[in-house]
Amino acid sequence: MPDSETEDAYSSPSEITESSSDAPQVKTKKAATKSTTKTKSVTQTVSNVVTAESQFIITKIDDLTSKGIAQADLNRLKESGIQTVQALAMQTHKQLSQVKGISEAKVDKLLAAAKELLAPDQFITAEQVLQKRQNLIRISTGSAELNNLLQGGVESQQICEVFGEFRCGKSQLCHTMAVTGQHPMVNGKPSNQQHKVIYIDTEATFRPERIQQIARRFSLNEKTTLENIIVSRVYNHEQQMAALSYLPQILVKDKFSLIIIDSITALFRADFTGRGELADRQQKLGQHLSQLIKLAEEYNIVVFITNQVMAMVDGAAMFQADPKKPIGGHILAHASTTRLSLRKGRGETRVAKVYDSPMLPEGEAVFQITEGGVDDANE
Ligand SMILES: Nc1ncnc2c1ncn2[C@@H]1O[C@H](COP(=O)(O)OP(=O)(O)OP(=O)(O)O)[C@@H](O)[C@H]1O
Ligand SMILES: [Mg+2]
Repeated sequence: MPDSETEDAYSSPSEITESSSDAPQVKTKKAATKSTTKTKSVTQTVSNVVTAESQFIITKIDDLTSKGIAQADLNRLKESGIQTVQALAMQTHKQLSQVKGISEAKVDKLLAAAKELLAPDQFITAEQVLQKRQNLIRISTGSAELNNLLQGGVESQQICEVFGEFRCGKSQLCHTMAVTGQHPMVNGKPSNQQHKVIYIDTEATFRPERIQQIARRFSLNEKTTLENIIVSRVYNHEQQMAALSYLPQILVKDKFSLIIIDSITALFRADFTGRGELADRQQKLGQHLSQLIKLAEEYNIVVFITNQVMAMVDGAAMFQADPKKPIGGHILAHASTTRLSLRKGRGETRVAKVYDSPMLPEGEAVFQITEGGVDDANE
């Protein structure tokens, strides 16, 4: 089935400057590109969010020795990709009993120990939920207008999906966020900690040269910016899924803000063809997305994924204002918390539209693609 076309845009975020490669600061200043004076800082766009640096805590799995769990069992969990107590607590009995060397009896003991250490209450008050949300980080899209639409940038602990036709700016948005993600906003303030970013490239479209250009726009050290992006080029859906199993070992070592997958569906589409394989494809895609949601919550990071659109080929298309829909069906629709559609606007501009969100009103933002990445539109 043919993919349909659209283009979108983004705008410009705050300028991020670096006095030295170790001490990045986010400041509001004019972009070094053709962007206009409309540029607003991310800080301005999220001024409604309060307080200091994140209280978000990651508890390493080794801490369970304090609850009487043998180190050998903890090593077995680590080998199977479970690096934190939070990750352990998210596993089902069935998943844990599939770990080599972990018996049914041990599963119960492990889950009980994890629960005790994290002291999670099955039910908490809405006030407590609100408190927990203060820990969310937000990443600038590069465009102040698009950041405003998203009420301060792309939020952590969720999957944010952008979809649209070819050349609408999906990969440009990924590149821009791979840079801005290194300096996210925490509780409305620029984080004073350097963050790293994971970039899973399924279509061979990642370009370090673009990262250098975007880093220059924000007056960032190009080498440091490149070093903070960990790239994995994957060639089939099995490698794409396997990449997530390696991730915990990487995520636990440094501070990460973002996992980008450009694109989430392309390899699944290529590897599963025809109606007969659709159920299998959707099941695998569902497992993949479920793993991503867990990582987003476990490490307080943004999962940012791109997706293509499909032209509706049946008669229904004639009665639709926009006869293109995102690939991935209900599985992807339910996994993505925030869905943005991108389309081409006038000239070089692109239009982003909130397609689905639990808290954002429907609305649109116009942006453009510049040498310095996603930025506000000139007009
Ligand atoms: N250095 C640059 N300066 C300005 N515009 C650029 C630059 N590099 C790429 N672009 C523009 O970005 C657009 C391509 O956007 P992008 O690669 O993000 O598309 P996409 O939505 O990922 O498409 P696909 O579905 O094919 O992956 C093109 O219109 C191109 O002109
Ligand atoms: Mg692309």
